[in-house]
Amino acid sequence: MTDLTPVLTATWGAEESWTLKTYQDHGGYGALKKAFGMDKADIIQAVKDSGLRGRGGAGFPTGMKWGFLPPDDGGPRYLVVNADESEPGTCKDIPTMLNSPHVLIEGAIITSYAIGCNHAFIYVRGEVVHVYRRVMNAVAEAYKAGFLGKNIQGTGYDLDITVHAGAGAYICGEETALLDSLEGLRGQPRLKPPFPAVAGLYARPTVVNNVESIASVPAIIDRGVEWFTSMGTEKSKGMGIFSLSGHIEKPGQYEAPLGITLRELIEMAGGMRGGKKLKFWTPGGSSTPILTDEHLDTPLDYEAIGAAGSMLGTRALQIFDETTSVVRAVTRWMEFYKHESCGKCTPCREGTFWLTQILRRIEAGHGTPADLQQLLDTCDSIAGRSFCAFGDGAVSCVVSGLKYFRAEFEAYVDGTASFDPADAALFDYAVSTDTAATDAPELAQEAHA
Ligand SMILES: Cc1cc2nc3c(=O)[nH]c(=O)nc-3n(C[C@H](O)[C@H](O)[C@H](O)COP(=O)(O)O)c2cc1C
Ligand code: SF4
Repeated sequence: MTDLTPVLTATWGAEESWTLKTYQDHGGYGALKKAFGMDKADIIQAVKDSGLRGRGGAGFPTGMKWGFLPPDDGGPRYLVVNADESEPGTCKDIPTMLNSPHVLIEGAIITSYAIGCNHAFIYVRGEVVHVYRRVMNAVAEAYKAGFLGKNIQGTGYDLDITVHAGAGAYICGEETALLDSLEGLRGQPRLKPPFPAVAGLYARPTVVNNVESIASVPAIIDRGVEWFTSMGTEKSKGMGIFSLSGHIEKPGQYEAPLGITLRELIEMAGGMRGGKKLKFWTPGGSSTPILTDEHLDTPLDYEAIGAAGSMLGTRALQIFDETTSVVRAVTRWMEFYKHESCGKCTPCREGTFWLTQILRRIEAGHGTPADLQQLLDTCDSIAGRSFCAFGDGAVSCVVSGLKYFRAEFEAYVDGTASFDPADAALFDYAVSTDTAATDAPELAQEAHA
């Protein structure tokens, strides 16, 4: 049985864990002192050697990303911490910032120092005002204690951190949309290349990293590469926060080595709620293809989950038991994607609208056999044909839902579903145009136009 490895979460239970005092009482800012005594290149090398992979979803090696910055040309370069965390099921950055904001700030200072940045930004999701306030207070504490500002700890190094609250859009978690939003523009993805490392914030070299990636840096510097690489699997090193939600006895954040299995995590979480059977789950939030009880023993690392046909993503384990209608879950997710599509490109903007209409029709018991093929065809027009990765993520639930539970979709269509379509009336999200679409697509098309 794999053990939990609390590192980022270790002090969450401490009294006033979010204060500088508590953080320092537990050794906080010790790694910064060590980093200031190191060569900048050695800090980057240590992060490379640790094998830390970006915790924001894609799993790109963090040290390698830092190494992509062009040589110093005397102009500014930036660190932008992605604290947007809006993926359904993902709930790790917000609790980290609430419980231990200084680990993020210490990580941001070490990273900025290593990459030669004098102004870092933390972009916090707009809705979480309490988190925004907490991070602002922690930054103010850090300034007062001389960890930020001019001549930090007498080293001659200067760093300012700006905490910025977005307006609450899922797409602003996509790194280039985030940068546009931070610049005061409408948050929509930019064409890549150029990548942010070359031309990011204000067209200057920029590193964009997730909260958990940056918060992992102090422990790597403090405890060393060997310690970090002793956890995890061959190509997925270290620990990570697994967020368990849904039909289990004790939902919450479980910090464990990468490679732990869902079976182990469910056991730690007190089992399935009411002793029910697992039906399906997401390994990394709603953008990652669903898996089933066949995959209970698949190691939760990038490679094994990839080989199983999904993605580790943000380790957002949304767990659904046998009482859940997969058609209903997929429809709710698609409503989210339709709402959050930024509208910049046609396949995603129109496709998510039509997928929602078809799914609602099926859920309400008015679907036809042709609708199932239409769902797949529409997904095919979105995946790989959209401007950003949102499109691929949006269709994951439909394609994987049909892969594992086609019979259930068919049962909704032929009227034999054990889930009562009449229950769908409880979920009356429809606005007038969408309601029209359920019964008369051509009317809806007019209304939508
Ligand atoms: C639609 C969409 C939403 C995203 N949301 C987030 C987010 O909320 N937080 C995050 O760190 N990364 C998010 N990402 C990934 C970022 O674009 C980027 O890869 C990440 O911030 C890089 O940090 P990392 O290398 O430390 O993982 C999102 C990507 C897409 C396509
Ligand atoms: S894929 Fe969707 S979210 Fe991404 S640019 Fe296109 S419309 Fe916007």
